[in-house]
This record gives sequence, structure tokens and C-alpha cells, in this order.
Amino acid sequence: MIGMTVYAALSNAGEIVGTIASSAKGEEGHLRGMAVRPAWQGHGIAELLLHTAEKDLRAAGCKRVTLDTTAPLQRAIQFYRKNGFAPSGRIGDFFGMPLYEYEKPLN
Ligand SMILES: CC(C)(COP(=O)(O)OP(=O)(O)OC[C@H]1O[C@@H](n2cnc3c(N)ncnc32)[C@H](O)[C@@H]1OP(=O)(O)O)[C@@H](O)C(=O)NCCC(=O)NCCS
Repeated sequence: MIGMTVYAALSNAGEIVGTIASSAKGEEGHLRGMAVRPAWQGHGIAELLLHTAEKDLRAAGCKRVTLDTTAPLQRAIQFYRKNGFAPSGRIGDFFGMPLYEYEKPLN
């Protein structure tokens, strides 16, 4: 929370149902902490959070945005692909698990 901007989606009852966090470094924006509570998935909340974070990164001068994910998170990978992300080819290590970077130009 010190290093990133954290966004929260609230239900009408005021409970947090989704989150995303972003940071901008020069022309590159980075996202993490993308999650929607299971009962609220499939309702466009993730897209609203993503579009809000992307809009603010664009306004901050970012030309592209990256994020990291792992193979078991297939629903997240489908969501990112559906929203214009593609693998960058950079693969990191997350406690022994391959960490795949995805990226997207911010036009
Ligand atoms: C990733 C996440 C935020 C996406 O939110 P969402 O509300 O599920 O997103 P959507 O329903 O818009 O899109 C998910 C897509 O995954 C696919 N999908 C749906 N159910 C799926 C399943 N059981 N397995 C794999 N893919 C699935 C579909 O392509 C779907 O898009 P479509 O139905 O519109 O074509 C949410 O699933 C989540 O919180 N997951 C757990 C946390 C997580 O993995 N975070 C990512 C960390 S990198």
C-alpha cells in the first residue's frame, strides 16, 4: 500500500468485493492484486477495476502495462487475454513456480 495505488470495488452494502493495485515507473505501468470475490465473479467487476487502473496509468504517461501470473490461475489468464494482454516471454520464479509476465500496450 506504500508503493502502489490500491483500488477497491464496493458492493451497495459497503463490503469490498474486488481489488486491483497499480504503480507507474516511467512509461511502464504494473498491476498486481487483481481479485474479485467468488460470488461476484463473472459480473464485469474485474473489467471495471482493470479499466479504471489502466485509465489512471495512461494519464500518468504510461505507454504499456505489465502483470505477473502463474499457470494454475487459468481463469485469470483467460481474463487477461480477453482484455488485450499477451505473454511478454519473460518468466520469473515465484518460490519455485514459473511466474509469467503478461503485457499490453496502453493506447
Ligand atoms: C481473475 C479475476 C479477477 C477475473 O474476474 P472474473 O469476474 O472472474 O472475470 P470474467 O468473468 O470477466 O472473465 C473470466 C474469463 O475466464 C474464463 N473462465 C470462466 N470460468 C472459467 C473457469 N472455471 N476456468 C477457466 N477460465 C474460466 C472465461 O473466458 C471468462 O470470460 P468470459 O466468460 O467473459 O468469456 C477473478 O477470476 C479472480 O479473482 N480470480 C482469483 C484471483 C486471481 O487469480 N487473481 C489473479 C492473480 S494474477
